[in-house]
Amino acid sequence: FPKDKFRDHLVDWFLSEKRDLPWRENKDPYRIWVSEIMLQQTRVDTVIPYYNQFMQQFPTLSDLANAEEEKVLKAWEGLGYYSRARNLQTAVKEVQENYEGKVPSTIDEISKLKGVGPYTAGAILSIAYGVPEPAVDGNVMRVFSRILTISDDIGVPKNRKIFEKAVKALISHDNPSAFNQGLMELGALICTPTNPACLLCPVREECLAFEKGLVNELPIKSKK
Ligand code: ADE
Repeated sequence: FPKDKFRDHLVDWFLSEKRDLPWRENKDPYRIWVSEIMLQQTRVDTVIPYYNQFMQQFPTLSDLANAEEEKVLKAWEGLGYYSRARNLQTAVKEVQENYEGKVPSTIDEISKLKGVGPYTAGAILSIAYGVPEPAVDGNVMRVFSRILTISDDIGVPKNRKIFEKAVKALISHDNPSAFNQGLMELGALICTPTNPACLLCPVREECLAFEKGLVNELPIKSKK
């Protein structure tokens, strides 16, 4: 598999085509963190106004750590899944207490924070700190299942590890942030669940599913 070509095409495409989103203004790990939690069960267009309001109200990690829980939940109203907001506040308090208010930059430390699973850990580490860790969600599994013709069922939670290994083997060490966000962006804009826009895809040349005519057969997804 032409790893270097794949990386370069993906990263170059992301850098030229990425959407201007409010959490892409800077690399503040706290801001990245909030965005990734909000985006977990909620679409980008829905998240944007909540995110902007939330950042006005709680501009720094210590503002959120010191806020009344009631105010935090109120700001989350409409996004749903309130445990996300409660866990986030618990976790920023942990950072305040145990890490002098600085979000940890190692996979072991960040993974211990409440509500920070493998996806969120990888997203924060790669985007905020440039650490080459995979950030694999359902969209990234779909993209990778097509690129490498991986037939493991993406609806089976255990299989996420297979995709993490595959991403780890290909991730750019020069720009892990653009690589991971490029995969997310590709899944959102081009490599969609149905009718993917293969003719516009920056990594069509490297895509094994495209080459074999299997784009509409992958990914395999049983339940959910
Ligand atoms: N979905 C999850 N994380 C995202 C991000 N950083 N940008 C756009 N969409 C996303």
